This record gives sequence, C-alpha cells and structure tokens, in this order.
Amino acid sequence: MQRLIPVLNKDHVPLHLISVINTLLTAAKEISHRLHQGSLAGTLGSTLDENIQGETQKKLDVVSNQLIKNMLLETNLVRAVASEEEDDIVEGNPDAKYLVAYDPLDGSSNIDINGSVGTIFSIMEVPDHAAEGKDMFLQTGDEQVAAGYILYGPSSMLVMTTGQGVRMYTLDHSVGEFLLTVEQVTIPKDTQEFAINMANDRFWAPPIKKYVKDLLAGEEGPRGKRFNMRWNAAMVADVHRVLCRGGIFTYPADCRNLQKPCKLRLMYEANPMSYLVEQAGGRASTGYERIMSLQPTEIHQRVSVVMGSANEVSTCLGYHEEIKCDRFDA
Ligand code: F6P
Ligand code: MN
Repeated sequence: MQRLIPVLNKDHVPLHLISVINTLLTAAKEISHRLHQGSLAGTLGSTLDENIQGETQKKLDVVSNQLIKNMLLETNLVRAVASEEEDDIVEGNPDAKYLVAYDPLDGSSNIDINGSVGTIFSIMEVPDHAAEGKDMFLQTGDEQVAAGYILYGPSSMLVMTTGQGVRMYTLDHSVGEFLLTVEQVTIPKDTQEFAINMANDRFWAPPIKKYVKDLLAGEEGPRGKRFNMRWNAAMVADVHRVLCRGGIFTYPADCRNLQKPCKLRLMYEANPMSYLVEQAGGRASTGYERIMSLQPTEIHQRVSVVMGSANEVSTCLGYHEEIKCDRFDA
C-alpha cells in the first residue's frame, strides 16, 4: 500500500493543490473521529441543545463546515470557499489560486441514526478573466482540477480524482493516514441495480416514471431482467456503491414544489460526483444535458441527476429523448 502524496506526485499534481487536498483530509480525519465518538462527542442533535457544561451543542454539519472552512482559509492557498452551509462565499487570500466548493456533511439526516455520511469537495482554479466574488465559482464542471469525497461509513474512505482516473484510499486509524486501497476504479457498463427515492414517484415527469416502471417490471417487462433497488439517503454512500460495483443513481426533478424542482446541488454535489463517475468510465447527465457541461449561474443552484453505469444511463436518457413533455426544471 502507498501513501497519498507519492501517488499524487506521480500524476504531476501541483504541490499547492496537494496541500489543499491534504488540508481537507486533516479536517476529514477530525470529522471522522467525531462521528466515531457519536453522542460521546456532544455534537449530535439540535444546535439549540446545551451540553452538561452549559455550552451550546453544535450540529455536526455546522461543526464540519467550520472546521473545513477555517483550515482551508488558514493555508493561504485558497482564494475563497463556497459551502452548502454558507449563504455566500467566504473569501481567503486574494492572491491565492484555488477555489473550493464543498458539502461538509452530505446525507446529514443519517448522523443521528449512525448511518453513512460524507464530505464532498470540488476544487477549481480562479478564472483568468476578471471575475470577482461568487462569479469566480461559476465555472463548468469540466474546469474542476480535483474532486472527490470522504465517506464516513464502517471505515472512512477518500475517493478522489485529479483527472487521471479515480483512486480509493482507506483511513488507517493506527497511522492517521489515508492509504491507497484501489488503484483504478472502473464502473461496470451494465447493471441490475438502481437508486432513487421511490416515494416521489407520483411527482416525477413522464420519462423517469416510465423508465422506473420498466425497471420494476423485471423479467416480464421490456427490460427483460430483474432490477434491485438500494437507497441510503446519502448521495456519497449511494454513489460510492455505484463506483464499487456499478448501478444507476438518480435524483430527478419533480413537481412537489415547482419553485424548487431539483434537490441536489450542482457545484458541490452533482459536479464533483460527475467528475468521479466519468473518470471511472460512467456517465452523468440531467436527463437531457451532460452535467459537467452546464454553465452555473448560482453557487447553490440545484440540478436533476442521473449518473452511473454508462449503458444504463444511456438507456435512461433514451426515455427522456423519446417521451416528449415539459420539464419541471426548465
Ligand atoms: O444532500 C442531499 C441529500 O441528503 C443527498 O445526500 C441524498 O441523496 C438525498 O438528499 C436524500 O434525499 P431524500 O431525503 O429525498 O431521500
Ligand atoms: Mn448533500
């Protein structure tokens, strides 16, 4: 097994970028430790609770956000961060080169039930043109220079790409390092496993409704085979399964609330996960467009997501091409 830094050096990743990634990992190790401690760390539950010393307890997603933000900004290598937990970007060193968008604790409804959660990150460079403030972040997913997640499950794992494939690392608590455990992640092209929140079925648009109906029809249906379903309610955990053994993960637009038809966020959920999925040989789309080609207009903008095994995603996109209807997210 190899350590992280020699592996990245082999790929000619700039040293400052390695430092930014290592800083994220230092924060992740602390988050992993606190999650492992559970209630003992006094960070579960509501932000309104007080612990036995009379201190306000902070929810772990707030704590994680602060840890990551403070550590990244202290490096002086980061121009600004954009976080799911911050309304606006937070500026750092005006001369620095890197921008980091992150979801500090994805799937946070799983925290209080001791389920899997994760930290997702997307790293870009400050654009050459004279963008200021949040406009610096409004780059397509193709501009990412590194992206990945740390999954806090039975073991903590880093899954990352710098554009030369996807590697997986496992946190070895005895040495306090993420050690390389999968050199090259490849998503099988075909699958018989899908992930979607079926409770939203009645709110979906016709193409995704028909696609899932055909999956559920099994051997007797048009697909001619049985499909299994999995749903962790944490994108990190669901996409991790797809990267490990294939599958299709979707969170489509729906009409529950037409002001907010999509759930997942482009900049710190869909884009970094799409980068991993594509680098591992899969596909990632809104159903109509390739996610990483989208031009963002807001740092917190939401997007419909269909990603995973290449042939299965293509099949799903075929339904979107064939069944004409108005889009909820248009
Ligand atoms: O961050 C949003 C998120 O928690 C994802 O991690 C997850 O895939 C999804 O929402 C779960 O949504 P739902 O609550 O509809 O199952
Ligand atoms: Mn999330």
